[in-house]
Amino acid sequence: MDYKNILFAIKEGIGLVTINRPDKLNSLNDITLDELKDCFQLIKLNKDINVIIITGAGEKAFVAGADISELNKFDKSNGRAFSQKGQEVFNLIEKLEKPVIAAIKGFALGGGCELALACHIRLAGGNAKFGQPEVNLGIIPGYGGTQRLTRLINSGRAAELILTGDIIDANEALRIGLVNKVYPDEELMKKAFELAEIISSKAQIAVQLALKSIVSCNEISETDGLLLESALFGNCCGTKDFKEGTSAFIEKRKPDFKNE
Ligand code: COA
Repeated sequence: MDYKNILFAIKEGIGLVTINRPDKLNSLNDITLDELKDCFQLIKLNKDINVIIITGAGEKAFVAGADISELNKFDKSNGRAFSQKGQEVFNLIEKLEKPVIAAIKGFALGGGCELALACHIRLAGGNAKFGQPEVNLGIIPGYGGTQRLTRLINSGRAAELILTGDIIDANEALRIGLVNKVYPDEELMKKAFELAEIISSKAQIAVQLALKSIVSCNEISETDGLLLESALFGNCCGTKDFKEGTSAFIEKRKPDFKNE
């Protein structure tokens, strides 16, 4: 598939997905959602990609939400389908079983904040702005925001953001746990790649299974989660990388992981 609204590049195990509609503040129209879905389906199958960074083109926005000019045409039945389509794409990202880092410069509003929430790690530029302003448009967050924001920052804070539509800056986002780190805008991509490289240098089967176990928290009880953790731990112990990692420690050398 040739992409119109996203850019995709792979460099040394790291996939870079850039939403590329800067003149519309990278807002997510239907085509962009289709392209994101196609891109992440390919990433899932591509053994050359360990870690993914997703960002927005230009200086002004990560993603300023769903495309309001398309949204405006919906009624009750296709509004529901619209929400489900976005949820499907963001679920694909959350359950990719490869780490996805959101590098957020500028506005991350509505669907943009929800896209960041579906990623596993969020890094923000100092000028980033976050919010769920849907109530200003007569709607609620529809791409997972009521669920993921509530789980991430607690229900009181999520309710305040969603019910007021307030927009908060990067430092406030850091304070409430919405983002992991804040860097000056000009350092953001460098820091995102440094983090991706660190994760990419680890034993990838362990990285993927750790992520699977972490993400399972969203859906299963702690008892079932602990059962899953033990099963995945056992799977790790059956890998060549486990033998290599533990042997390298004992032999006081750096491990040479083969992702096997
Ligand atoms: N959907 C469609 N187009 C959008 C958009 C969105 N979510 N957000 C911005 N754009 C477009 C604007 O319409 C404008 O296009 P135009 O130049 O053809 O008129 C362009 O992007 C630039 O946006 P503009 O509003 O002029 O920039 P600004 O700096 O004055 O304001 C925002 C920036 C983010 C505050 C403002 O664009 C905004 O409120 N966007 C909507 C945010 C939102 O409600 N998101 C949730 C949607 S569910």
